[in-house]
Amino acid sequence: MATTDKKLFRMAVKASENAYAPFSDFHVGAALLAKDGRIFTGVNVENSSYGATICAERTAMVKAISEGCREFEAIAIAGNGGTSWPCGICRQFMYEFCPDIRVISGESEDELKVYILKELLPEGFKL
Ligand code: THU
Repeated sequence: MATTDKKLFRMAVKASENAYAPFSDFHVGAALLAKDGRIFTGVNVENSSYGATICAERTAMVKAISEGCREFEAIAIAGNGGTSWPCGICRQFMYEFCPDIRVISGESEDELKVYILKELLPEGFKL
């Protein structure tokens, strides 16, 4: 069965339970759907040295790429159960692999918005 945007968003919300966010208290989860149907989840992992923090989207992407998966269909993101759009670093990070990925978020699974990554990062940089 095709993975729906709602299901992906629910998985992002569920994943966010594992976020390590003692400093911001903003618990982010991401669910990344690969073209082969696999789904990789990710969470933000903060650090006492704040700049060492990694976002949920990049955690999910790094998990996927390290498993040999490089083609992606969609990513859903949830922050504290609601809307969270990717930060600039995550937009650039994802652009490297999938400028056409569908990016999904919203206040609830019934109020989702979808953008193509290229819309969120116009004229993105890629060597
Ligand atoms: N965060 C993400 O996980 N993804 C984003 O795209 C935006 C920000 C995290 C980083 C930090 O742990 C917390 O949200 C507050 O900035």
